[in-house]
Amino acid sequence: MKTFITTFLLAAGAAMLTPGCALAQDSSARPGHTFTIGTNDFLLDGRPFEVRCGEIHFARVPREYWRQRLQLCRAMGLNTVCAYLFWNYHEFEPGKFDWSGQADAAEFCRIAQEEGLWVILRPGPYACAEWDGGGIPWWLLKNDSIRLRSQDAEFMSAATAWLKEVGRVLGPLQVTKGGPILMVQVENEYGSFGSDAEYMGRLRQALLAAEFDVPLFACNPAGDLRRGLRGDLFQVVNFGSDPKNGFDRLRAVQPSGPLMCGEFYPGWFDTWGAPHHLGNTKQYLADLGYMLSRDASFSIYMAHGGTSFGLWSGADRPFKPDTSSYDYDAPISEAGWIGDKFEATRKLISRHLEPGEKLPEPPAANPAMDIPPFTLNETAAVFDNLPAPVEDTLPRNMETYDQGHGCILYRTTLAAGPAAALQAGRVGDFAWVFLNGKKIGVMDRRERRYSVRLPAHEKGAQLDILVEAMGHVNFGGEIHDRKGLDGSVRLVAGGGTNVLAGGWQVYPLRLDAPMLAGLQWKTGPASGPAFWRGSFEVKQPADTFLDLRNWGKGVVWINGHCLARYWNIGPSQTAYVPGPWLHAGGNEVVVLDLLGPSQPVIGGLAKPILDQLRPQLDFNRKPAAKGHLNLAAAAFVYTNSFAPGPDVQEVRFPQPVEGRQFCIESLNAHDGKPFAAIAELDLLDPAGNSISHMNWTVAYVDSEELVAEDGSAGNAINGQTSDYWHTAWSNEQPGHPHQLVIDLGDAVRIGGFRYTPRAGSNVPGRIKDYRVYVGTNLVPEAD
Ligand code: GLA
Repeated sequence: MKTFITTFLLAAGAAMLTPGCALAQDSSARPGHTFTIGTNDFLLDGRPFEVRCGEIHFARVPREYWRQRLQLCRAMGLNTVCAYLFWNYHEFEPGKFDWSGQADAAEFCRIAQEEGLWVILRPGPYACAEWDGGGIPWWLLKNDSIRLRSQDAEFMSAATAWLKEVGRVLGPLQVTKGGPILMVQVENEYGSFGSDAEYMGRLRQALLAAEFDVPLFACNPAGDLRRGLRGDLFQVVNFGSDPKNGFDRLRAVQPSGPLMCGEFYPGWFDTWGAPHHLGNTKQYLADLGYMLSRDASFSIYMAHGGTSFGLWSGADRPFKPDTSSYDYDAPISEAGWIGDKFEATRKLISRHLEPGEKLPEPPAANPAMDIPPFTLNETAAVFDNLPAPVEDTLPRNMETYDQGHGCILYRTTLAAGPAAALQAGRVGDFAWVFLNGKKIGVMDRRERRYSVRLPAHEKGAQLDILVEAMGHVNFGGEIHDRKGLDGSVRLVAGGGTNVLAGGWQVYPLRLDAPMLAGLQWKTGPASGPAFWRGSFEVKQPADTFLDLRNWGKGVVWINGHCLARYWNIGPSQTAYVPGPWLHAGGNEVVVLDLLGPSQPVIGGLAKPILDQLRPQLDFNRKPAAKGHLNLAAAAFVYTNSFAPGPDVQEVRFPQPVEGRQFCIESLNAHDGKPFAAIAELDLLDPAGNSISHMNWTVAYVDSEELVAEDGSAGNAINGQTSDYWHTAWSNEQPGHPHQLVIDLGDAVRIGGFRYTPRAGSNVPGRIKDYRVYVGTNLVPEAD
């Protein structure tokens, strides 16, 4: 316990403890305060202080609206906001730091202070947060052997330099120096990634060397608290429900000190092609009430989600790209609107205020408007607007060509040849294949489909592979996520394999301002991948949501702002446009569409569309249908029962088995109901270590709830324990047995598996008796 009690003898205006008044002066003139970790409570100037916090990312909120959003946080009852710093947002190029405009973290902290809010800072170096690469800069991946989030020398030196820079810019805003920053987090949920406590220790040292003198802490989900645990780092626990279980697990590793939930989820994030997430508000309020009535501290993740503007949205593992909307069903919506959840949270918290503390009224919402549909009648075809090529012998990953985002075109000419399978080793992330300009097919990382059929072709036929990179995976080992092709492209025909080496032209398409400025526009439509441009008039700028339902897949810009990615499969069908980014008078929209619009028309809506899935428009293949499952082909079958309850359960097979497909079959559930649910399924190698999910896909699932919630099967293998696969329950309730088959990508030796049940108390879907099948052909490879 002693280790946490750090007292700072500072000139403290002790009397001025309530956040509002203590904060409402300009920081440089403000006295410093002490913020310490006591035996049971946080202590602000020596007095118990309950952290009522909410997460808000200034990078996801238009700068012009920071104050309004922060006022909403205060009015909701929060006394603190928690903010990640996304390293790659501030150090887009090595050694070049940007703290201006939308990246002005210090100004954000100052405004928070002016609005009566303290700040908890989470500078990384890794953040997660469904942000591109979890905040880690893509340029580190230029080093093929770098090991991110480890004591790898190159990673550590870059991370240490980053934290030193953070200290330079935000150190003066610590509470000890009269600013609002109470605490600083080291890394993020490191226990879910590794267990090297020394690595955490070196980051802690880097923050101390950067002159952070406020308490340093670490956060982890309940199941990973012990991994990388250090006695000199205060621990907080992340959970979406069942606070009693979460805090019990925290107390098991940290017998005293204030109880804090570092991330408490009122909603969840969306990925393309999966249902929009709505949180269970009743449960959220009950659990929040539980924490408030025990003076436990918490941070609502997200209090206000905002938008991953531009190309900043990340991807869930193994590869589920995140939407640009980060509404998160948070109490404060993407556009800063408040509703029942906000009011209920405000009402609940107002029953737990400090003596004399009053909540301000929420500020008015910013107006929103419709924009009549208009046509984009200028185009610039991608193939007509190529930069100078890079000559190369092999089509290598984007990072090799010093590119981290956007698209890249690989071109080569072929010798005459018969029909063949064109195969790539790996694609980051989608590749459209053209032969002599004619689209042949698409390769899709979601299914690890890296092959298309090429027809017979003449000598000199031009092969084009246009690759689109979506966000870098932001979670798990998959963060070593290089984009583009990986150097190996071959033609396979008649049992022979012809590696396409020599004579590649590579065209990096960075989708940045210089590229857009150089586009050659023509009036009239274009076919194939193309940029489209149009304009519209606005009398009085206000917020709006661009309706992109006529468009296929790509990126949209407004008045030069790279606004968002879009994809017609949904769930989101609109892109949030902050009013301050519009002009009174003429406004310009540019859309890159890799598929082509049904009609080149866009309008603005006064309300967002966040929940419209259109699976029929998806170019993916569906997991194998019923009847394709052939469990009789299993080489190994194992039958047993799971214990009831939320705890993670590890199962070891009597002897290791080898196979490419793993099927878990529920025979019944502990509550006797027809449902099965799995939060996380990890496979273990014969030594008991987790097997990488890098090449995993869902090969078959008998039932998923995709209407009333996102119970998609991919949730069971994405590493996140707060979401889960759940069999159908809203429109139909098929009974056991239920099957989920994972394709591992290659034959793997398996020694057992780890089953993480769905979190929460008394929730449906807890599997009782089960069978496991391992084999190679439980589900035939779909072609
Ligand atoms: C984790 C991370 C957060 C965020 C949430 C999911 O707990 O720490 O950054 O990714 O999951 O939204």
